[in-house]
Amino acid sequence: MPSLSYSHRFEPALTPDRPPLLLLHGTGGNENDLIPLGQTLSPGSPLLSPRGKVLENGMPRFFRRLAEGVFDEEDVRRRADELAAFVAEARETYGIAAPIAVGFSNGANIAAAILLLRPEALAGAVLLRAMVPLSEMPKADLTGKRVLMLSGQTDPIVPAENAARLAASLTASGAAVRHHVLPVGHGLSQGDVALATRWFSER
Ligand code: MLT
Repeated sequence: MPSLSYSHRFEPALTPDRPPLLLLHGTGGNENDLIPLGQTLSPGSPLLSPRGKVLENGMPRFFRRLAEGVFDEEDVRRRADELAAFVAEARETYGIAAPIAVGFSNGANIAAAILLLRPEALAGAVLLRAMVPLSEMPKADLTGKRVLMLSGQTDPIVPAENAARLAASLTASGAAVRHHVLPVGHGLSQGDVALATRWFSER
């Protein structure tokens, strides 16, 4: 892999006209984790998969947190900018269009922050178990961007009210948001894969 500002994996397109995906792992994950999910959700898409630079007890993440669900918001803003700059760098290097983010947990939270702070970096997003990344939500223009949010009804990390607030705020910014709450916890389920695969096929 060329040396860019994030350690990453890139899988070139196998099928023309499939949207590029930006894969963003959860806490403790790495650039390999979501490659199989990306291949399942949008077969043949180019896949760009960075590894989070923040280490929490050795576990990679995309921004610092002070406690579970309590974010270092200054770091959220800084890292959203840094990751958006990486996306621009990678687009140039690999010749790809603006990607659709597919983020899980901490990866979904940084994807939501990028949508709100650097909307030009993403064409849309699949947010798996996302929560509100910033207490003051920035006003972004997300017109024309599709967002799929999948939450877990019994998720011990993301309160239902918090996920609903994020969906409402993205909708108010003009995104075409679809939000499903599945009868599961924080982990991914077959239901997530089925709904996300359908969402991609509807593009
Ligand atoms: C976060 O820190 O982004 C959320 O608490 C999700 C997690 O990584 O557990």
